[in-house]
Amino acid sequence: LDVIICHKNEGRIYQLLRSAGLIHTRNDAIKLLKEGNVIINGKPVHNPEFQVNPKKEIILVNNQPITPIPKKYFLLNKPKGYLTSKKRRKNVMELIHCDKTLKNTLFPIGRLDVNTTGLLLITNDGELAHAILQPKNKMEKEYIVTIKEKLKDNIQKLETGITIMVNNKPYKTLPAKVNRTDESTFSITITEGKKRQVRLMVAALGYTLLSLKRIRIGSLGLGTLAEGNIKELNEKEIKGAFSVP
Ligand code: URA
Repeated sequence: LDVIICHKNEGRIYQLLRSAGLIHTRNDAIKLLKEGNVIINGKPVHNPEFQVNPKKEIILVNNQPITPIPKKYFLLNKPKGYLTSKKRRKNVMELIHCDKTLKNTLFPIGRLDVNTTGLLLITNDGELAHAILQPKNKMEKEYIVTIKEKLKDNIQKLETGITIMVNNKPYKTLPAKVNRTDESTFSITITEGKKRQVRLMVAALGYTLLSLKRIRIGSLGLGTLAEGNIKELNEKEIKGAFSVP
């Protein structure tokens, strides 16, 4: 038997049938239900508003089982030249090789500039994405910055906050953690995510940025994952890293 996959975890039967691509309109659902071709836990269901949870109930449509799309988590070490937004140019999603139905549900959590490399999470878990991106959660993001010049003492200014332009207005960045690792390299941990924030902070000190790589979000690190490579994480690993219920 083939399995039909749907994108909704629970809801009305007609919504589920739609998310599984089996119907387009509510009227299509009514027709399918009327014909007795939708069986939930062994009984035909005729009401399009019938509430179901495909995780708990067995739904058969034309004798084929419907199952919800499982939550998936991928850790990508993003190479340069790939976009996180859906444009026509090279997109990070090209680096993920999985079933097309599943791929349609996946999206990157947050963004990295085209020339930034490193840790990017790709998932279909909207709640996790929300928890990570919510500004009030102040999720730590750590980057390695390499500059052309030799570092001066002024990088301490990044710790207290520095003024950058955000939407054409001056904005003082929140306190950051800075750790010098080499004469032209340092790590910076920020808890916010303004557009091009690290680049703007580095430029505000008068440095020329050569490379920017994200190595950590929360307690989830990139580890030894090579550039361009992807590792699937299970729910336990993800929940442990972000202490979400
Ligand atoms: N800050 C930047 O400037 N760019 C990124 O891609 C991420 C953080």
